[in-house]
Amino acid sequence: MKKIIAANWKMNKNSKEAVETITELSAILNNSLPDEKEVIIFPPFISLEASTHALVSGPFQFGAQDIYPAKEGAFTGEISPSMILDAGAAWVLTGHSERRHILHENNTFVGQKTSFALACGLNVIACVGETLEEREAGKLYDVLTAQLNQTLAKLPTPLSPERLVIAYEPVWAIGTGKTANNEDIIEAHAIIRELLKDIIGTSVSQTRILYGGSVKAENASEIIKLENVDGLLVGGASLKAESFAKIICA
Ligand code: 13P
Repeated sequence: MKKIIAANWKMNKNSKEAVETITELSAILNNSLPDEKEVIIFPPFISLEASTHALVSGPFQFGAQDIYPAKEGAFTGEISPSMILDAGAAWVLTGHSERRHILHENNTFVGQKTSFALACGLNVIACVGETLEEREAGKLYDVLTAQLNQTLAKLPTPLSPERLVIAYEPVWAIGTGKTANNEDIIEAHAIIRELLKDIIGTSVSQTRILYGGSVKAENASEIIKLENVDGLLVGGASLKAESFAKIICA
């Protein structure tokens, strides 16, 4: 399976800025990716369609940062999976810690979004991770268990393994400049792989697990080599084409 390097642009970049960054990134990379890597960019909704149309034939895939788990209807402010597909994107993030903590999304709702998105044909990167308080209270295993069990409670079947990706993003490492150390990452990814065995079954070795949290050009090559790390989910350091290109090539 190829490693995934994903850019979560969060609430940054209007359409013009998104297109400029994608064009610059493609130019730095000579419009091609290193072997065995896939790159997925998650612009804000408002810049998504411009992003998917930025290059005539580019090496990047695209996704939305969120969805609402319904086909259509009276859900003011929300966006459906079919609208995301229509904008030319194939992926969606679910359960990002900023949505859990700032917008109060719980595991049940994250689970509804995950299963609905997959059933509608979107591929999903489902995010999990503990707060500092939970880590210090020794609750890492319990938090990951609850998040994964509920997020993946109603997966559509059959589901090809490349369509569902898990991202481990410890909340205390997001946007803080504090990266989890190698042992922390190896431990959490091993727990996730083990939990996935029970939930998904035999194809678990093909389920990619990404690390996210203060990844930058300087630490990417070390993190991506760790056991059970199948890619990176990058926030701040993905906003500039030059630094994101270095992470892609790390
Ligand atoms: P930073 O890379 O800015 O810490 O953000 C990580 C993240 O939340 C990616 O989804």
